[in-house]
Amino acid sequence: MSVLRSVIVGCGSYLPARIVTNDELAAQVDTSDQWITERTGIKMRHIAADNELTSDLAAAAAKAALAQAKLEAAAIDLIVVATATPDQTFPATATRVQEKLGLTRGVAFDVQAVCSGFIFALTVADNFLRLGQANRALVIGAETFSRILDWEDRGTCVLFGDGAGAVVLEARAGHGSTDDRGILVSRIHSDGRYHDLLYVDGGPSSTQTTGHVKMEGKEVFRHAVTNLAAVVGETLGAAGLKATDLDWIVPHQANKRILDATAKKLGLGADKVIVTVDHHANTSAASVPLALAEAVADGRIQVGQLVLLEAMGGGFTWGASLIRM
Ligand code: UT7
Repeated sequence: MSVLRSVIVGCGSYLPARIVTNDELAAQVDTSDQWITERTGIKMRHIAADNELTSDLAAAAAKAALAQAKLEAAAIDLIVVATATPDQTFPATATRVQEKLGLTRGVAFDVQAVCSGFIFALTVADNFLRLGQANRALVIGAETFSRILDWEDRGTCVLFGDGAGAVVLEARAGHGSTDDRGILVSRIHSDGRYHDLLYVDGGPSSTQTTGHVKMEGKEVFRHAVTNLAAVVGETLGAAGLKATDLDWIVPHQANKRILDATAKKLGLGADKVIVTVDHHANTSAASVPLALAEAVADGRIQVGQLVLLEAMGGGFTWGASLIRM
């Protein structure tokens, strides 16, 4: 049986030049390198320059992904940007990226699922490609989360960073087996009852301000481990595979302790988990594609390997995507 698969043919990333260490933060708020390291695993984060917008980060990551795929921007007919920190309330940041890539055809739009955004965007783009509604997609996770942090709230401001990651997806014929290259199965979920545990206290319709991140960290942590283990199991089960079949898991990078607890729940060794939270912190929708791009660039993730991406974020939203690279 011939089926269409969305194959990752290029990965790219972009990080702003400025690095902020835990010690630098400790000079501004009541925190310490020791607390941040022990509770989160974070040692540093990149912070965008004042004149750098989410679309700039996204376009830079997209260009890097196109270069790896050896494709011109003109080959792209779909751009999906996952972001919770758009340049403006409207238009979609994806249309700014489209313009920065010199594209005037195809379709570009944003997807908003906060830290799960990249998995949601990948799932949407995969559906477009498998239905024949597009042939090559740029899927980008990009954030300037530093702009929505309350820099006096030590419970949140130490956790996040800025950055962008991108993949180029290409529709290719497969056989319908788990040996096919491409996205094999994705599962995404949301549950709006948990709004109050993780949200931004602003927006055009409510306060007419941008607002700041508010989080009940402990509660989010508890739900994250449970939901992530469940959606990973669901995704693997739908493909008829087990956690031990995976070559790599690329988790959303919120907290090293969440990565460890989820891997333990799945019976996976630490040597199969891609970790970037120490040097990127939590970059929300950018964290999964940033980690993926890093592990592809340094040769850990190879063509033909089985990789699982997973994330959980505000909403709540959560999801996983199983990919034969
Ligand atoms: O990406 C979306 C998903 N987000 C997440 O997955 C985040 C999930 N949550 C977490 O990662 C963790 O809950 C945090 C890292 C946010 C917090 O770790 P925790 O072990 O749950 O700490 P806590 O919030 O219970 O706080 C423990 C103590 C408190 O002091 P008291 O009340 O025990 O005296 C906090 O006030 O640590 C204090 N604290 C800090 N101390 C120094 C909180 N933030 C800081 C800080 N520096 N930055």
